[in-house]
Amino acid sequence: MELFRIAGGTRLAGDVPVTGAKNSVLKLMATALLAEGRTVLTSAPQILDVAIMAEVLRRLGCTVTMDGGRVTIDCPESLGSEADYDLVRRMRASICVLGPLLARTGEAKVALPGGDNIGSRGLDMHIAGLTRLGAEVTSEHGYVIARSGQLAGAGVWLDFPSVGATEQILMAAVLAKGTTVIDNAAREPEIVDICTLLTEMGAQISGAGTSTIEIEGVEGLHPVTHETLPDRIVAGTWAIAAVMSRGDVTVLGAQARHLEITLDKLVTAGATVEPLLGAPGFRVAMETRPRAVDVVTLPYPGFPSDLLPMAIALGAVSEGASMVTENVFDSRFMFVNELTRLGADVRTDGHHAVVRGRERLSGAPVRATDIRAGAGLVLAALCADGGTEISDVSHIDRGYPDFVANLRGLGADITRVDVPEPDFPLTF
Ligand code: EPU
Repeated sequence: MELFRIAGGTRLAGDVPVTGAKNSVLKLMATALLAEGRTVLTSAPQILDVAIMAEVLRRLGCTVTMDGGRVTIDCPESLGSEADYDLVRRMRASICVLGPLLARTGEAKVALPGGDNIGSRGLDMHIAGLTRLGAEVTSEHGYVIARSGQLAGAGVWLDFPSVGATEQILMAAVLAKGTTVIDNAAREPEIVDICTLLTEMGAQISGAGTSTIEIEGVEGLHPVTHETLPDRIVAGTWAIAAVMSRGDVTVLGAQARHLEITLDKLVTAGATVEPLLGAPGFRVAMETRPRAVDVVTLPYPGFPSDLLPMAIALGAVSEGASMVTENVFDSRFMFVNELTRLGADVRTDGHHAVVRGRERLSGAPVRATDIRAGAGLVLAALCADGGTEISDVSHIDRGYPDFVANLRGLGADITRVDVPEPDFPLTF
């Protein structure tokens, strides 16, 4: 069992690099299924989820190698069609192979991922979208099974601008016959990144980054080399960490324009935020205790739901009370119970949380329940008196490459320790 042991109270200062976005590269890897031959993705983060997606692709017949931040995918002419539960349950993003497999082979069988610690996470819009393109989709024995002849372009209206459903439909529609229009499409930068890759591969797409994406199907795509866009959630985590620790952090390689609302909130809290001259990145500096700010999560360009735990952690040490509203997932507040173990004053009601800031938090043993909740707890622990031990850190490792090394580089007192599981006699 691995833990993070943190001694709170250090001011974070220095430079920290941001690599490619987890939520982009996983889908870019699935996109590689659409073209026979060698796709190369650069700036990939070295995290467990990339290794899991590599295994998903290998079991479909691809050869995948990972060398530093370079992922090379050799996709054969003839692909398998099944993604098993043992991989999908470890990483629900595996579901994104459904659309490309269907487009390439006419059939796909992917295990249903189920819910997780942030919410119920349905697939109804993925399925309705693929059905609109002509697929027959059923669900049997824990698998979603999709079959089709040649997919045909169609109009698809999403009830909610779902990132996953937009990607799924995009990846199927590029090889469909005719025109597909996705209305109420997600506008996240990661969607734009996938559309950029698809266009480089020969797809015809307009409207990426807007609510209406139009795709003119083509006969085939060719493999290319593509650089993954920087991770805005990791960059936002560093920005909030700088403010909470009253530090001075330069986030190298990040795109400030992908974090406009987040950085604006930090300025309202009292921080100075400046772009770097001549290079991507920004500097966040904070001299005083942050002022409380209200936060409402929404699909992009709104405040990202993935930064909600960090926003609550920020509120927990700010001066005054913040109202934090979650509009994307139904159980994102689950981690609040862990945060209150560190002394935070948080009350939740439905999708609202009222956070009353405290001058100091106090260290305690806590548990990471998902990637972002884990990162939020680390930020809170860095501001707490005394020591905190965070368990289940494998969640955090899924989203934050070199997290401990990067934090130590900024001056944090954090170590990863391997401890044996407690050994109780639990027999009856
Ligand atoms: N939803 C449905 N039906 C669907 C699809 C989505 O009800 O068919 C609901 C979900 O249950 C959720 C909401 O719509 O309540 C939004 O889901 P969305 O599809 O937009 O999210 P996702 O594709 O499952 C991705 C990221 C998440 C990120 C969200 C929102 C990946 C691998 N995951 O999830 O990232 O929070 O978009 O931006 O890209 C993370 O990185 O920690 C993470 C959870």
